[in-house]
Amino acid sequence: MTTRRPFRWPALLTPNGRGIAYGGDYNPDQWPDEVVDDDIRLMREAHVNTVALAIFSWDRIEPREGEYTFDWLDSVIDRLGAAGIAVDLASATAAAPLWLYERHPEVLPVDKYGHTVNAGSRQSWQPTSPVFKEYALRLCRALAEHYKDNPYVTAWHMGNEYGWNNRYDYSDNALAAFRAWCERKYRTIDALNDAWGTAFWSQHVNSFNEVLLPRHMGGDAMVNPAQQLDYERFGNDMLLDFYRAERDAIEAICPDKPFTTNFMVSTDQCCMDYAQWASEVDFVSNDHYFHEGESHLDELACSDALMSSLAAGRPWYVMEHSTSAVQWKPLNARKRHGELLRDSLAHVALGADAINFFQWRQSASGAEAFHSAMVPHAGEDSKVFRGVCELGEALETLSAAGVQGTELERADTAILFSAESEWATRSQTLPSMRLNHWHDVRDWYRTFLEAGERADVVPLAYDWSAYRTVVLPTVLVLSAADARRLADFAASGGRVVVGYATGLVDEHFRTWLGGYPGAGDGLLREVLGVRGEEFNILGDTGEGDPTEIALTLQGGAGACELTTRLWQTDVTSTAPDTTVLAAYHGPAAADWELGGTPAITCHPYGEGEGVYVGCDLDRHDLARLITALSAVPEGRAGAAPEPGMAAGAGAAASRGLDPSILHTVRVSADGATRFDFYMNRSKRAVELEGVSGEPIIAHQCDPLPSHSGQSGAAYTLGRNAILVTRLVR
Ligand code: GLA
Ligand code: GLA
Repeated sequence: MTTRRPFRWPALLTPNGRGIAYGGDYNPDQWPDEVVDDDIRLMREAHVNTVALAIFSWDRIEPREGEYTFDWLDSVIDRLGAAGIAVDLASATAAAPLWLYERHPEVLPVDKYGHTVNAGSRQSWQPTSPVFKEYALRLCRALAEHYKDNPYVTAWHMGNEYGWNNRYDYSDNALAAFRAWCERKYRTIDALNDAWGTAFWSQHVNSFNEVLLPRHMGGDAMVNPAQQLDYERFGNDMLLDFYRAERDAIEAICPDKPFTTNFMVSTDQCCMDYAQWASEVDFVSNDHYFHEGESHLDELACSDALMSSLAAGRPWYVMEHSTSAVQWKPLNARKRHGELLRDSLAHVALGADAINFFQWRQSASGAEAFHSAMVPHAGEDSKVFRGVCELGEALETLSAAGVQGTELERADTAILFSAESEWATRSQTLPSMRLNHWHDVRDWYRTFLEAGERADVVPLAYDWSAYRTVVLPTVLVLSAADARRLADFAASGGRVVVGYATGLVDEHFRTWLGGYPGAGDGLLREVLGVRGEEFNILGDTGEGDPTEIALTLQGGAGACELTTRLWQTDVTSTAPDTTVLAAYHGPAAADWELGGTPAITCHPYGEGEGVYVGCDLDRHDLARLITALSAVPEGRAGAAPEPGMAAGAGAAASRGLDPSILHTVRVSADGATRFDFYMNRSKRAVELEGVSGEPIIAHQCDPLPSHSGQSGAAYTLGRNAILVTRLVR
């Protein structure tokens, strides 16, 4: 992993440069010039202090090849700056002008069937095209020269969601680049043959010139999973290279302004390996769009938990979210009363110091006209715009109270996320095509909330050794080094919880042999004290066969019954010191010859332990498991938090709260000031007692008369409520 660039955060145009950034994508090129003045009037009304500008404006900046027109952009930036609104200026390369494609159709990507993608949308370019890169870098340099000294431009917004539309390119440029990438990675062709297991199906490669992209291979379509996984990595790397080239071109001319690019972290997608990207930006930013339904807040918090880890505990930027509905799903629900403000402040609660939307003014034309915005079609006399103003005020209140720059308190547990495992679980060569690493991370995250505890989500590649517990949900890919880190963590007192379908293959998608889960040549099995030989896969395909199996969990408040519906590792032996916490039983288990087979186990390892969850469980059952596990003394229980680390205290404080409440804490660097954020995860009103500190924000909350003898204040949190309090020690 490359060293991380130093953290640099864009200053606002406020007297001291500080404050929570608030605004959105601003696309004045879609409107006549007089609308800009009206926009600025409304931005001031809404307390907007930042906009992301010119993201899709290449054709306006360079209407014909080599002809740059900055006048319109200068005029917009001058007016914004004079109104105290800082500009996060785009490199403007996310959508190229049509003249470029007319002149150079060879820059267009090619799909896996060999069809050239057409121009007319965005990111219709090959990340590996030298021709496109030349045009893009020329534009970057022109922008950098023109705006390097502009005091209102306070950050560079590179590209936009790199890889959204050109993540998978199968062009000849990509082929040449993939061959070169493989040669850099493997050095010798023997190493590649070995890694890819090319002895299978006559795939031996004689030289790097014979390496193929995983283009469409006919109806069978069973691509070598090692080749596919490398192609995923390659695509990530090519886009990261492209980003770096753009950043470096600007930085050579304009080194003083911080760089970012908007990630796409939400638990429905995993485009890039952002654990790598986070090292290459000065501050991390994200685009997050809400999930409809009961997972709304939990999903947001889970995505943000990963963002917070990517930001290495430092503040991060919400570059885009929506005031209400989007327009790109089959059905697009709007937000309910209070959700606009609650969602935004929930991001702050999870560590964000910037709240921005796509987009400022709702488009009248084009593909996104029915996507909500800060100024809706209805205009300023609207619920949405009033909500936008209310949010602006709330963010100013939080800024004035000193939230900006405080850091999110760490949890005790880290759920480990791996982009590689997410890509790998999509392979069609596994025992089940229903594996989904990211969704399992989300389920575990929600489960911890339901069990009254908040977890962090941390990239597998990062350092998670200071946590008490790590959880690996469907982390299919584990290298020998990963297995060693897990074993060392357990040996020194940590608890490692290993989910089903974890640690089955190495980084080359080569199966670990000798029994499941075999990562590290059996090291993971040693940590867990179990050995499995087969997998039992349930589903609706086997006519008449039972589709769910019961297991009885011992511990906690007595035995309880859980159900598995997809995957059971057939554990055939356990170590003498392994405790079986749950075993399969009942008629379905007997039918599948699993009666009495260990399903969930716990095994001491050094000072710590390995817990194996050899089957899938739904969230409610996982919550029961977490409760039962918290009754099992763990190696580090009672260990003091490390100096300077806020870990432990806050997580413990959250315990005992109604699990319908999501509780987070942000603490100042000197530890003197803490902000507690309380949000209602449920639809019903929830009572919260024992709240210390002064209330800063109480949105959809009502104070309750305090009971005599009770310490702290009490509130009722209504639906979509958020309460923020400040405590100065
Ligand atoms: C077919 C093929 C074999 C193998 C099996 C797997 O029968 O001939 O090579 O792929 O399917 O079931
Ligand atoms: C992404 C893009 C924006 C816009 C929004 C719509 O986040 O970056 O340009 O298309 O989606 O939700």
